[in-house]
Amino acid sequence: MKRVSASFLPPISLQPAGKIPIYRQLYDWFRQAILDGRLRPAQRVPSTRNLAAELKISRIPVLNAFEQLHAEGYFETFIGAGTCVARSIPDDAVRPTASKLRPGQQRKVQRSGPRRMSRLAAAFTRLPEQSWLNNLGAFRVSLPALDHFPIGIWSKLVARHSRKPARGIMAYHDAMGHPPLREAIAKYLGAARGVRCDPSQILITTGSQQGLQLSALVLLDPHDAVCMEEPGYHGARHAFLSAGARLIPVPVDQEGVDVATIMRRARNARAVYITPSHQYPMGMTMSATRRMLLLNWAVRSGAWIIEDDYDSEYRFASRPIASLQGQDTDARVIYIGTFSKVMFPALRLGYVVVPKDLLPAFAAVRDAADVFSSTLYQAVITDFIQEGHFARHIRRMRMLYMERRTALVKAIRAEMEDLLEVIGAEAGMHLVALLPAGTNDEAVARSAAKQGISAQPLSSCYMNPPPRGGLILGYGGSSEPQIQDAIRKLRLCISASM
Ligand SMILES: Cc1ncc(COP(=O)(O)O)c(C=O)c1O
Repeated sequence: MKRVSASFLPPISLQPAGKIPIYRQLYDWFRQAILDGRLRPAQRVPSTRNLAAELKISRIPVLNAFEQLHAEGYFETFIGAGTCVARSIPDDAVRPTASKLRPGQQRKVQRSGPRRMSRLAAAFTRLPEQSWLNNLGAFRVSLPALDHFPIGIWSKLVARHSRKPARGIMAYHDAMGHPPLREAIAKYLGAARGVRCDPSQILITTGSQQGLQLSALVLLDPHDAVCMEEPGYHGARHAFLSAGARLIPVPVDQEGVDVATIMRRARNARAVYITPSHQYPMGMTMSATRRMLLLNWAVRSGAWIIEDDYDSEYRFASRPIASLQGQDTDARVIYIGTFSKVMFPALRLGYVVVPKDLLPAFAAVRDAADVFSSTLYQAVITDFIQEGHFARHIRRMRMLYMERRTALVKAIRAEMEDLLEVIGAEAGMHLVALLPAGTNDEAVARSAAKQGISAQPLSSCYMNPPPRGGLILGYGGSSEPQIQDAIRKLRLCISASM
């Protein structure tokens, strides 16, 4: 160990043969000496040349350490005085109590209980653990066939935009999103989903979840009532809860959400959240009558309708059902879509079609939240759509998911017809398998998770006790051999839980 006394300084200890590089040892020494008060604000330190000579080391590590200390604000340079300890090191940091702390260690505070946080945050920490999300095994809901994504094309497009990025790709951008992508989405939604909008109404988000969150912030005040489908999407529940909303569960049946219950029990609701094209998780389509009833009620009551159109591209037996937004004549519908299913979830890109009078509010709230989404990926996906890869990928995935759905239904029939009742298998990337009455679906999901199977319990979609347990089985990201194997294992998990 070298132990050398540098001029003006307490002794510096260096370990030349140690694992930590010399520049880092020097940086740590100075930082610690400043934090624990051995070096005072504005105190002069030796020049790098003198220090290197005194420590008998090369000047390079000294220069590197000083550069870092300058960059982090521990050192300052004054003309005529050389390098000094910065004068603006906060008093708190140089108090003697800090002296016993190692770098990175936090001060211990005597506490009688947990520290105070908001009631909302505390409520979120009490949500039940979701064991089925701990793996990416068979039946993971919302997982597309990632190994069938055209990654070669995608990476060429990423390279195209990142090799010589336009200034606009690297600079701050409009909160509403990349204009060419907004145009491409408006065109796609008009043609494929019957959405009536122009590009100025498209707000690009980091997925549907942010679309829900922004809608909650723009439309709701704390304690406002929001009608939720029962069973329904937990992500939407969480978004509205985080805005302090009061949730009212409204049952769904074969025709979708029960509008008569909304009219009877929730006359003053500020908003209704629905998945009309493909109810999550049960899979039915909202009937034309219910759609008209809901739209008329919303006009009369002044409520907003938040339409989550999360996977309507995948409908197997018939053409995709047109959006509710396209039938709305009073601009009451906020339409939310996502690239998570048709592309991949980690892309974190989605969109909201915003009624024109709400545009300034949505843009301002988005700006306050996280300013805007990565422009690079917005530009890449624009090319992906405009060059025809998007439509081709959806067509291929529709075929693949149809095959996987057929394989899953067949495997259930062959292995477990006596145990599981399949519903909602006409569209999307998941189906619901109802368990025999009285079976605890959470117990089944927990034991399946131990086998690497990611089956979501249906009860997790309910706010009230569910009438019957079940499993939501995603098949988009599960290959046929994986499906066969997982169904055999699932049989054992179900039998053991009955
Ligand atoms: C009903 C519903 N909406 C939206 C999403 C997609 O969310 P995001 O776009 O935030 O990935 C999902 C995915 O699980 C979903 O099930």
